[in-house]
Amino acid sequence: MRERRVAVIGTGYVGLTTGACLAAVGHRVVCADADHRKVERLGRAEVDILEPGLPELVRDGLDSGRLTFVGDSRAAVGEADVVFLCLPTPMGVGGAADLAAVEAVADEVRSALRRSAVVVNKSTVPVGTTERVAALLGRPDIAVVSNPEFLREGHAVQDFLHPDRVVVGAADQEAGQRVAELYAELDAPVVLTDPASAELTKYAANFFLAMKLSFANNLATLCERFDADIHDVVTGIGHDPRIGRAFLDPGPGWGGSCLPKDTHALLTVCEESGVDFPLLRATIDTNVEHQRRLVERVVAGCSPGNGSLRGVRLALLGLTFKAGTSDLRDSPALAIARLLKERGADLYAYDPALSESPPDLSDLLTITDSPERAADGARACVVLTEWPHFRELDWEAMAGLLEAPVVYDFRNLLDPLRLDRAALSWEGIGRSYAMAG
Ligand code: UGA
Repeated sequence: MRERRVAVIGTGYVGLTTGACLAAVGHRVVCADADHRKVERLGRAEVDILEPGLPELVRDGLDSGRLTFVGDSRAAVGEADVVFLCLPTPMGVGGAADLAAVEAVADEVRSALRRSAVVVNKSTVPVGTTERVAALLGRPDIAVVSNPEFLREGHAVQDFLHPDRVVVGAADQEAGQRVAELYAELDAPVVLTDPASAELTKYAANFFLAMKLSFANNLATLCERFDADIHDVVTGIGHDPRIGRAFLDPGPGWGGSCLPKDTHALLTVCEESGVDFPLLRATIDTNVEHQRRLVERVVAGCSPGNGSLRGVRLALLGLTFKAGTSDLRDSPALAIARLLKERGADLYAYDPALSESPPDLSDLLTITDSPERAADGARACVVLTEWPHFRELDWEAMAGLLEAPVVYDFRNLLDPLRLDRAALSWEGIGRSYAMAG
């Protein structure tokens, strides 16, 4: 494999993983971030996100000299053959992707880019952004290529080094090849296409995943109505390779830093381009509706009357958007917490990834340092994130602390038999105790 000089602008989940992994497969990488303190910490191999294997890769990269961190994006790109833009594209006004960071960096590095370098957009951006960045750069010698990222938080290194596919969208096929070659070591199928198709592939992937989850959550409700078991139903359909078993576990709704942002951005893209895509709207609405329905179950079981939870203390187990991350962005657990709070509940929450309450949550809930403290005096317990060790809690002790013996397991995580032995009544999603047990 030919060693390339690579610059990565932005050291979030995607940027840092890209930089560290490309260094690990033999390229020479300079990562830039405008946050100087973060750059200093990264220079000491201090990684502030929970991502298995990443601190070790950063340490190896620093030790081998293949990976360096700088604060100045212009300095980072000066020698680079390939420049990755890994910048945040948050949900902007009306749900559209906010491209301010991408545009600002394009503006900044324009004159510092080396002749004939390739600029690669890894950020999730609306169709047409690759062309827009090319126009912003205004450098005919520079090709701009789209190379979306499909990694999952908590599995970022694994997903980067063992990708299902590498998608590269380029108007200039030679530039596309140059980007694809960076991944030659990884032995993954490469989809070489045009920029619009690559950009749309990223949105389509996240939309499809969200659609699977909304489908599974709705199906779980249907299972409840007929005393059917969601686990068996999705396993039954999942054996069909056209459907697949993955991403069909019901939960408290889907969230995170990507699925909600990208489905809303795609909805805006559809509206702006006059394309009616009812499935997309239904996927988003189903998620909201599903969360309301779960909250109604808690209200029905815990309200002293009038559909209110005023004066009712609840223990929440898990707040991050999924297990294995400390990320709270668009967490379904927080969406459920807000709905419970609206009904008047007093919320005490425990999450192993959070030691103290983020300031913006202090009005919503109180963070405790153990599940037992959250449960002490609570009327019921609600499991919202699938942290595996919740299964192993001392549920007898938890039962002694709860006012009413009910656990709402909105991840179908716990062992109902074990809860039964602890004289706790288990309420899962789409399956009854009899089936799960
Ligand atoms: C998602 C995609 O899975 C990645 O492929 C994509 O690259 C990434 O977004 C991105 O665009 O950057 P991530 O945000 O890390 O990755 O989260 P997921 O693992 O996809 O989980 C999303 C949500 O679905 C979570 O709230 C999770 O708890 C929920 N989920 C997932 C379920 O409720 N049930 C399942 O069976 C799977």
